[in-house]
Amino acid sequence: MTMKVKPMGPIPPGFHSEQGMLLIGGRGAAALVDETGETPLFAYDAGMIRARIAALREAMPRGVDLHYAMKANPFPPLLALMAGLVDGFDIASSGELSLALGAHVAGGRISFAGPGKQDRELEAAIAAGVAINLESEGEAARALAIGQRLGVRPRLAVRVNPDFELKGSGMRMGGGARPFGVDAGRAAALARHVIAQGALWRGWHIFAGSQSLDAEAIIAAQSQTVALAARLSEEVGASPPLVNLGGGFGVPYFPGDMPLDIGLIGTALGETLESRPAILAESRFALELGRYLVAEAGVYLTRVVDVKISHGERFAVVDGGLHHQLAASGNFGTVVRRNYPLAIANRFDGPICAEPLTVVGCLCTPLDRLGDSLALPPVEPGDLVAVFLAGAYGASASPSAFLGHAPAMELLVED
Ligand SMILES: Cc1ncc(COP(=O)(O)O)c(C=O)c1O
Repeated sequence: MTMKVKPMGPIPPGFHSEQGMLLIGGRGAAALVDETGETPLFAYDAGMIRARIAALREAMPRGVDLHYAMKANPFPPLLALMAGLVDGFDIASSGELSLALGAHVAGGRISFAGPGKQDRELEAAIAAGVAINLESEGEAARALAIGQRLGVRPRLAVRVNPDFELKGSGMRMGGGARPFGVDAGRAAALARHVIAQGALWRGWHIFAGSQSLDAEAIIAAQSQTVALAARLSEEVGASPPLVNLGGGFGVPYFPGDMPLDIGLIGTALGETLESRPAILAESRFALELGRYLVAEAGVYLTRVVDVKISHGERFAVVDGGLHHQLAASGNFGTVVRRNYPLAIANRFDGPICAEPLTVVGCLCTPLDRLGDSLALPPVEPGDLVAVFLAGAYGASASPSAFLGHAPAMELLVED
């Protein structure tokens, strides 16, 4: 029986091989595994991250700060790299705060967003001089009280739940009833209140969505964001030191996905900022990005344990799975399962086998499928499977305790 091949997403540009072996940061995948001693391994190419950020800065208008949303990848050596490459870090918990401070990011370069911040988290952040992106009036009251107790003026911004959404984004975070931020209609009143209470006013945080590959949609959202920030600032009667424009820049994961045109976005943002209302004349602007900066630089390497046939279908069973790389299994925010790009790392450009291959993880659940009916070279136990787009929402966003397997190794690869 001949099975039908299913397409997979594009392998990110910049990956190639030497004598059939996939190179990551100029080093062979098998050598990296030998170095760390084990599979599965997340390998992150530092040079690729540097190049990505340099290209982004080149495309964006001067004076737009770049913030790293470290939820995308909090691996400490990667954070230390990012600390020297971006202007600010966005954290979502006190655990992330500790990691950011551990990477020598000064508190003044950190902002803290996320609903459900606990008092002890607010306290640690305020004491460290972190800007709090307030998610509600209740959170504002707690932050002000904690500032008073600590004898410091808390640095406060208001996260706004905008009246619009980032169209076509993988995760919508504005435009309607949301747990994130304060509805635009009440944001100015809250800002006036925290300023009157003596807080250090930091400005607005407006995050409309994430994982968009539609430049026009991002351009429209950014222009609406600047207009909203200006309108709210007029209502408050104060210029915001910073307008965090959110992010939403996506990466191509799936068949047919095309890379985002950041040149187009940068040009349009430049025009939007040039014609901004006077109340924003002295404001700084920031983009808050996670996956766009790091996703494509990461590869998840997992070893084939078994190759088997069932009802004519070929399966490679690997020593990793959804417990490390949940997103590739289709169980992290996707409705329909589609294939991430995969390769056999040690036969990177080998001839394709006539029969498609399904790559499954070692977990005893049908959900643990890393690649479905792929056109790949022949495989045997011991081969290394590379799952691309593993630099964001991989190791830290997967249920690593599920079924008691060991966590994956991680490695930042410097050229
Ligand atoms: C407030 C906030 N900032 C940043 C991000 C990072 O998004 P991405 O990794 O898609 O850039 C998210 C994602 O949900 C978010 O909620």
